[in-house]
Amino acid sequence: MLGASGSPALESRPAYVPSQAGLRSAALAGQRSAAQTGSGSAALAGRERLLADFNWKFSLGHANDPAKDFGYGRGSAFAKSGSLIGGRNSVTSAAFDDSAWKPLDLPHDWAIDLPFSDSRDLNEHGAKPLGRTYPDTSIGWYRRTFDIPVSDAGRRIAIEFDGVFRDAIVMLNGHYLGRNLSGYAPFRFDVTDLITYGGKNALVVRVDATEYEGWFYEGAGIYRHVWLEKTPPLHIAPNGVVVTTTTNANGSATVTVQVDIVNEQDETATAELRSAITGRAPALESRPAYALESRPAYESALATISLKPWARQTLTQTVTVPAAKLWSPDTPHVYRLAVQLGKYDAVDVTFGIRTLHCDADKGFFLNGVRTELKGTCNHQDHAGVGAALPDALQYFRIKKLKEMGCNAYRTSHNPPTPELLDACDTLGMLVLDETRMMSSNDEGLSQLERMILRDRNHPSVFAWSIGNEEPEQGTERGAREAQTMKRKARELDPTRLITEAMNGGWGKGLSSVVDIQGFNYRYDGIDAYHKQFPKQFTMGTEFASTVSTRGIYDNDVAKGYVSAYDRNYPPWASTAEGWWSYFDARPYLSGGFVWTGFDYRGEPTPYNWPCISSHFGILDMCGFPKDLFWYYKAWWGAESVLHLFPHWNWPGKEGQQVEVWAFTNCETVELFVNGVSAGWQKVDKNSHAAWNVPYQPGNIEVRGHHPQRAGLLVDRRETTGAPAKIELKTDRATIASNGEDVSVIAVEIQDADGRIVPTAMNDVAFSLSGAGRIIGVGNGDPSSHEADRATKRSAFNGLCMALVQSTKQSGAITISASSPGLASAAVTITTSGAARPGI
Ligand code: GAL
Repeated sequence: MLGASGSPALESRPAYVPSQAGLRSAALAGQRSAAQTGSGSAALAGRERLLADFNWKFSLGHANDPAKDFGYGRGSAFAKSGSLIGGRNSVTSAAFDDSAWKPLDLPHDWAIDLPFSDSRDLNEHGAKPLGRTYPDTSIGWYRRTFDIPVSDAGRRIAIEFDGVFRDAIVMLNGHYLGRNLSGYAPFRFDVTDLITYGGKNALVVRVDATEYEGWFYEGAGIYRHVWLEKTPPLHIAPNGVVVTTTTNANGSATVTVQVDIVNEQDETATAELRSAITGRAPALESRPAYALESRPAYESALATISLKPWARQTLTQTVTVPAAKLWSPDTPHVYRLAVQLGKYDAVDVTFGIRTLHCDADKGFFLNGVRTELKGTCNHQDHAGVGAALPDALQYFRIKKLKEMGCNAYRTSHNPPTPELLDACDTLGMLVLDETRMMSSNDEGLSQLERMILRDRNHPSVFAWSIGNEEPEQGTERGAREAQTMKRKARELDPTRLITEAMNGGWGKGLSSVVDIQGFNYRYDGIDAYHKQFPKQFTMGTEFASTVSTRGIYDNDVAKGYVSAYDRNYPPWASTAEGWWSYFDARPYLSGGFVWTGFDYRGEPTPYNWPCISSHFGILDMCGFPKDLFWYYKAWWGAESVLHLFPHWNWPGKEGQQVEVWAFTNCETVELFVNGVSAGWQKVDKNSHAAWNVPYQPGNIEVRGHHPQRAGLLVDRRETTGAPAKIELKTDRATIASNGEDVSVIAVEIQDADGRIVPTAMNDVAFSLSGAGRIIGVGNGDPSSHEADRATKRSAFNGLCMALVQSTKQSGAITISASSPGLASAAVTITTSGAARPGI
């Protein structure tokens, strides 16, 4: 270990000049390239991390026909190095004519543009024609040409992919770089030798989405960021900064920083290394380019390192933070660490200080405080964009989940994009980070390793999940595989426990290996398990799977809608009230995870076509809350909640009984129909209130007494008039003009008195002027076959949505929405700021 905390005078250090812009989002290990430091020759110039998302060309290929697949499969593709798939002007060369290909920016999911198809084999996957039986829509080709100056000769150059779905062959200048099978794990190639210095380079990716990894919609293409990274030969290795923390009795924290340094050249190189904590990172809304504080607040001692040619060494430094601010979902204090390798390199890492402890009897403790996991499992797609989410949508989604009192997120069933973890770090959300392939084969271990190396500095991540409902979960072979995976996980990260989300086989196989016993769905055996294995911590890794459609109160098989009362669930599942009452009553369990926070494409349980997306979400695909949102908000959140449903527009049902429910944490509630009491009720913890009343137009109103709140709480539904006008609401009225940032525009169909018409299905057309573009639309209807990437959408039960993205021009964007017979609306967003450095 080199040095203790404390620092010599600032003047004796090499200059530290953080760059101010564009450090927003690095792919691996929550690390950010920091300063261009010192002067030096070109070969010594500091690290550059360049976003490679813009100006790609795309074409579909073909899974069976080489003639339609740019020659791939014709034979001898790999015969000669540098002439991959043919000769000079082949698809892999810079000279290839791609003028007929479609220009686009990443992230990109080509599946979202395919037509919906009614076929049994596509049902679970979102009804998009992907697979061996759809050869002409299942292969995608991407090309990006770029210049590298002669002055870059001598630097190391690498290309990083945050995630490609899936089976990608990556080529540079006719050379094979490698093949990546996983649709979710990040991967990286050193391309130093293959670059054309002082000329055009062609990066080409063939993506093969003919096979699935899951049983849900997974998208297709380069749906996460791509980076070009240039470093001097002596540099900090990829994922090369590991931060761990311990808290001390006096309130300080000791931050241990391990730095892995490589010298990739034929000469010995010497440099000084110092780690400095530069202050707290603010919990930004959507992470526009942030500025580092210019003066390090707390620093390690200075260490000197001398590395022989092509050698590698790990140094450990410590920094003390007095009066440490602890990270938690309620106080997401994130610190920033700058690791400076003399004039050569600098890497910026965000981390948090917090303690984790699992007690088999008392539950999960965060910073010494028992913390119930109020969690949701989620897939990664969203309305309008499929799997290709701009970063801003990650923040939008995490904020929505927090609004309902959710404090934990399970990345089911795959490693997430790094920006999801950035959002969880800075907004405050615990994460159960899950790998895709549960296996101790090379591929399984590599996926696990890449996830842990990348994610281990994120304070939000509290445990690793090595799999979900694996057929071998209860077997000896499964246990052996898990043991190898656990050994790998511990080696890479001794600070976190591992679990597996098991739906059977408890007490056998994997149970003897995992630190945390995960339970999916079957809660009837948990007490017995706890009695039998009293020393093992137990967690609800997946529960509920309650199905509901926003704004629907009668099941409709033909349309594929499920009523939004907390009543419907498949045979293995339960109501929200059922599972949460059970868990909340058992301190040893510490809560668990609902299947799911948001609806997602695929798995349209309990229906098939015309349904194309799931009903499991507490929020729909756009992030509009269903009624269950208020069940969870009442019993998970800190606020007083009183939510009445259904809506009160039932023409033709006059005189018929209608069930009226309230989700509330009030102690007593009384319902009034047109001002006349329909009776009061006491509401037990974790339950709801319900009445049956004959429908008559007018209003229903509920009044509640909350134990901790003076006065009455009131909620009311009114019979509205006909649709009369459109109202637009933005989640953020100012966004960054970086070509990436997004504002979410919610569209309400209102009556003349400004009330949302809860049954309105009007067609809405959008138009836009200014420095922006509409990148997708949605309405949360699980059976809608309207295009996602369009400028029009019908409302579904009163609501729809448009996603508006900035360009790199700053200015104003005005979005207008119109519908026949309704008064139109417009809203203006302003954009400013710089784009991230890129190629
Ligand atoms: C679980 C599975 C999830 C999802 C869910 C639907 O068994 O882990 O991925 O399929 O069922 O209820």
